[in-house]
Amino acid sequence: MNRASGAGLSLCQTLFYQGGKTMFRPVAQIPLDYSVFKDKNSVFAWAPSGAILFGNGCVARTGQELKRLGVSRVVVVSDQGLVKAGIVQKVLDALEQAGVTYQLYDQCEADPSVETVEAIAALAKDADLLVGVGGGSSIDPAKAAAILVTNGGSIRDYQGCDKFSKAPLPLVAIPTAAGTGTETTPFAVITDRQRAWKMPIGGTGIMPALVIADPELTYSLPPHITAATGMDALTHAIEAYTSRCTEPISDALAIQAIKLLAKAIRPAVFRGDIDRDARYDMMMGSMLAGYAFTSASLGISHCMAHPLGAMYHVPHGVGNAICLPVVMEFNMGAWPERYADIAPFFGEDVSGLSVLDGARKGVECVYRLVEDLPIQPLEHWGVTLQSLDQLADEAMKGGDRPNNARMTTKEDFIRLYTKALTLKKQG
Ligand SMILES: NC(=O)c1ccc[n+]([C@@H]2O[C@H](COP(=O)([O-])OP(=O)(O)OC[C@H]3O[C@@H](n4cnc5c(N)ncnc54)[C@H](O)[C@@H]3O)[C@@H](O)[C@H]2O)c1
Ligand SMILES: [Fe+2]
Repeated sequence: MNRASGAGLSLCQTLFYQGGKTMFRPVAQIPLDYSVFKDKNSVFAWAPSGAILFGNGCVARTGQELKRLGVSRVVVVSDQGLVKAGIVQKVLDALEQAGVTYQLYDQCEADPSVETVEAIAALAKDADLLVGVGGGSSIDPAKAAAILVTNGGSIRDYQGCDKFSKAPLPLVAIPTAAGTGTETTPFAVITDRQRAWKMPIGGTGIMPALVIADPELTYSLPPHITAATGMDALTHAIEAYTSRCTEPISDALAIQAIKLLAKAIRPAVFRGDIDRDARYDMMMGSMLAGYAFTSASLGISHCMAHPLGAMYHVPHGVGNAICLPVVMEFNMGAWPERYADIAPFFGEDVSGLSVLDGARKGVECVYRLVEDLPIQPLEHWGVTLQSLDQLADEAMKGGDRPNNARMTTKEDFIRLYTKALTLKKQG
């Protein structure tokens, strides 16, 4: 997700609804220079994805939507958790009712690997379209496989931004967790186990052509996964709002995402089985945050969370939940006005406070939130003081480090990880 590398967006496959007829249409090449920060002297461009179908129960329309696209053979990509939750079956039923032929790959694992991407690509070599059903661990390998099917080679060849030349196979994303926002981002995160490295793979060609976002699908998410994925979404929104690459459109999206997520996350975690509004707002918030960080980038919470995932299998959302408050405290002084905007979204009154005290209040809100939520501390995942030197080395390589509000050294990362280790500690 390195936005400071000077890469540009390429061909984007977009789905247009025109007079009830749906078709794929390539959008013209939009060259973007990511080497400049988006202050008022710089140029930014927006190339949003295809269509979005959003609302309770909309997954039942999957088959008819695909039929309208004229596809006949699809590969559905998911994982065993989604099979057990009965969600995969809902999608398959909708395909069958519409007469769409499918093959199912349901073996995606947490932090999906190069090998998983290769297996999906092999299965999809004659397919018209991929359907990713799940969280980031299902939708991301579907996105990556879409590149391999048309471009060949190894997925390692496509690490970075726009490294593929041919348009990937079109993809439909059906998110089942309100977290990564992968349904609205041009990124896939694939783990290279040989290097214990989470590879960012990007390009507008892997933006889903159609998103079917049904908040009802998240009702079966258990509290600890609702908490972790929800904190990932909140991290996206806050990092996008405080990065060095902000611009007016991403600001609007990030603010609305923080508002929705800050209010909905506790009800979604603690009574997500009955609180339909909280589930709805979480899904909308995570989707908006996905758009926001696609343009505004992320910060060093993500640089810290990725090696925790690659080296210690700390779930992505857990890593961000633990790192976000510590990172906000570190960053706060670099842009206090932005951090001061955050507390009111958590219902805190900052009137009469100095900007810095308002910013501090925003940071406290996130510390308190993480304390309340069912998130396991880093020690639970085997992270110790001895781990920190190597973790800091890996965090230094994070693509979003140049985009963070405050410059960060290896020593800073060691201090930040040390503080993160104390969060949520039992006893
Ligand atoms: N592409 C992007 O823009 C982007 C952004 C952030 C993170 N990521 C990547 O996404 C991955 C993490 O994805 P994630 O946080 O969505 O989690 P995940 O996909 O790993 O899912 C976590 C668990 O939740 C289960 N689950 C999902 N939805 C469920 C439901 N509705 N009911 C019951 N169980 C359900 C899954 O079976 C799985 O066991 C990481 O690899 C991370 O690096 C990608
Ligand atoms: Fe994330």
